[in-house]
Order: sequence, then C-alpha cells, then structure tokens
Amino acid sequence: MPAIDNPTEKTLAELGLTEPELVARQFASVREQFDKELLAKPGDEASYTQMKNAWLGRKSGVLTAITEKWLKPAAPALKPIVGQSLNELKRHIESNLESFRVAAEKASAATAAAREQIDLSLPGVQRPIGSRHLIRQVFQEIEDIFFSIGFSVVEGPEIETPYYNFEALNIPEYHPVRDDMDTFYLELPKGAPGPLLLRTHTSPVQIHTMEKRQPPVRVIVPGKVYRRDNPDATHSFMFHQIEGLAVDNDITFCDFTGTIDYFVKQFFGEGVKTRFRPSYFPFTEPSVEFDASCIFCGGSGTAKTGGTCGKCKGAGWIELFGAGMVDPAVYGFVNYDPKKVSGFAFGIGIDRLAMLKCGIDDIQVFFQNDVRFLKQFP
Ligand code: FA5
Repeated sequence: MPAIDNPTEKTLAELGLTEPELVARQFASVREQFDKELLAKPGDEASYTQMKNAWLGRKSGVLTAITEKWLKPAAPALKPIVGQSLNELKRHIESNLESFRVAAEKASAATAAAREQIDLSLPGVQRPIGSRHLIRQVFQEIEDIFFSIGFSVVEGPEIETPYYNFEALNIPEYHPVRDDMDTFYLELPKGAPGPLLLRTHTSPVQIHTMEKRQPPVRVIVPGKVYRRDNPDATHSFMFHQIEGLAVDNDITFCDFTGTIDYFVKQFFGEGVKTRFRPSYFPFTEPSVEFDASCIFCGGSGTAKTGGTCGKCKGAGWIELFGAGMVDPAVYGFVNYDPKKVSGFAFGIGIDRLAMLKCGIDDIQVFFQNDVRFLKQFP
C-alpha cells in the first residue's frame, strides 16, 4: 500500500468509517489495491517473495496493520464485520499469492529447461589437441632406429659431480678441453657436499651405465645438457643430445662406422653421403667428427637457386656429431678390463640434427614456444 494516505495507519473511527457498508467498501478497496499490485508484477519468484512480505509479513505486512488499527480498536458493533472482512481478505490474498507462486515456479523451471536443452545437431566444441615438440619427435625417431639394432634407452641425472662430467671421462682438472664446456655450477648451502654442476654433455651417463652393467652394453641416452654458450642461430645454453655407447669383447672400428652409417641413412635417407674426420675427445681414441653430405644442396656446395649454399657454406658437408672408440683409460674408472673389452661412443646434438632435417635456420625457435612454429610439426 502506498505510504501516502495509507488508510491502515488510521483507525476506522479516524477514517470516519462507522457503518458496516462503509467498512465493507473499505475492505473491497484494499482488495482491489492488492489485485492491482499483483497484476503489475513480473511473474517471477522474487516478486512473489516481495508481495508476500508486503501483505502477509508478521511485523509490517498490510494484514497485520489492519488487525492492529482496524480490528482491535473497532467498536463492538463493528467488530464482527471487520473480523469477517479481514478473514475474507486474508483468504483472497493467500490463495492468489499461492497461484502466483505456482505459476512463477513453473515459469522459472521452463526457462531453466529451455536454457539447458541440448541440441544434438550442433557441432561439438573443438578443443585444440597438443602435439609432441619437434625435438621430442626427433628423439623418438632416433630411438626407434637404435632400438631396431639392439640398443636400449637409459637416462641419467642433469645435475652432476665434476667426477662424472669430467674426471671419469679422462678430463682431469685444468685440462684445456674443460674451457669448451664451461657451465653452470650450483650454489649449495654451506657444508653441503659439492661441487655440483649442470651436465655439459650426456657422456657422464656412459660412466653411470658401465658402473652398473657388465658388457655387453648397448645403450643410447637422450637428454638435456647445459653450457655457458651465448645464444645465436646454432647455439643455445640448454640443448639436447643423444649419447650412444656400445661395449663388448670384440667391437671394432668397422662396427662403429657401420652403425653410424646405418643410423644416418635411416634418418636422412639413402642418398646422403657420410664421412669421418679426425678429431679429439679425451674419452675416445681415435676420435672423429662425423659429417653428412649437405641435404640442402645435395653435397654440391651450390644452392639450388645458384650461389654458395648457405647451410654448409659451400663445403658440401655438414658436421653432425662427435664420436670415437672408447679410450681404454675410461675403462679404468669403471673397473672394466681394457685388454678384454672394446667399444665405441658418440654424442649427437639433437637440436642441430632437427634443424638440418627440417630446414630450420635458427635454433632459438625451438625454445620460444610460438605455436605458429610448433603447429608446422604436428
Ligand atoms: C660432446 O658433447 C661429446 N660429449 C660428444 C661425444 C660423445 C664424443 C661420445 C665422443 C664420444 P661436442 O661438444 O662436440 O661433443 O657436442 C656434441 C654436439 O652437440 C655438437 O656436434 C653439436 O651438434 C651440439 N652442440 C654443442 N654445443 C651446442 C650448443 N651450444 N647449442 C646447440 N648444440 C650444441
């Protein structure tokens, strides 16, 4: 009821309603007011609650006000008609509010049902599916090739002691070759055993493996390695290698070259030519660098568009990795008898291999996580 000229704020006597007909008319007007208000409301559950509180609320509802102001102080002659009219009004309000509530509930259930309706003819939500990173794909391809000739995969820690990373590989302290493998040493709490460093190559896993197993050993070791190299098109401070190690009683240089040749032909195709160049690693003797004929210019040194091939810089060959026959000094660190065993080892830089195979000219794109690049290698 509007606050201004609210008749329920006054008694019937104050309103001048002393006759039963006038009282009945007043109740009819209140009822009309209720009907009008209810009709104007949107048919929702919030309106129901609001109307219920306004009209039936115990403390400030209209019916409570009528009871207090009209019924209680009514003259004895008028009391029966006021009481009867109030009861009728109450029944009217309650039954109308109940119908309103049922309708509002139905409407809200219908809206919810419409909202939740499933249209099976709509296309499903297409969630983007990730794929393996190109480096992981190349690892897998290389692993499959070596599986097929009897190698198995082992892994080793990325945090190493200088003993495994250097000394047991025949690289004593102050050996100049350590300069090429400067790396990240860990800051350790005072008193902790150390020093510890991020491994610079996967070769320490050769030592871990030979410490645990007796020949024959035929393993490959995929993993991350770290060096304090400045980033450029072919260098990254974190990159990936696959180490290979085969040790047995009668492994010769011929087994070594045959294995490497087989791998490269499987990986790059039959057309590729290979060559070994003398090199130096303290843990292999003899040591070699292994080159493949440039897959971009077919080994001619001349780009298909004319001019010098930019990938091999006109040489016709591209360096793939370092390798060699295991230096007998290394066997001394793992209690193998150098007179009885022989073997070969190699360490392939996976990132550069992937670059060569896929024609990628900057190693940094592997680590920038640009999906436009990654999507090219699903
Ligand atoms: C080694 O790491 C030896 N451990 C390999 C080895 C193993 C020799 C077993 C003999 C026997 P080297 O430093 O040349 O060798 O690295 C091997 C390969 O890692 C390189 O041919 C190159 O492909 C890759 N590489 C080296 N430094 C980086 C770098 N900063 N970023 C990306 N790739 C690199």
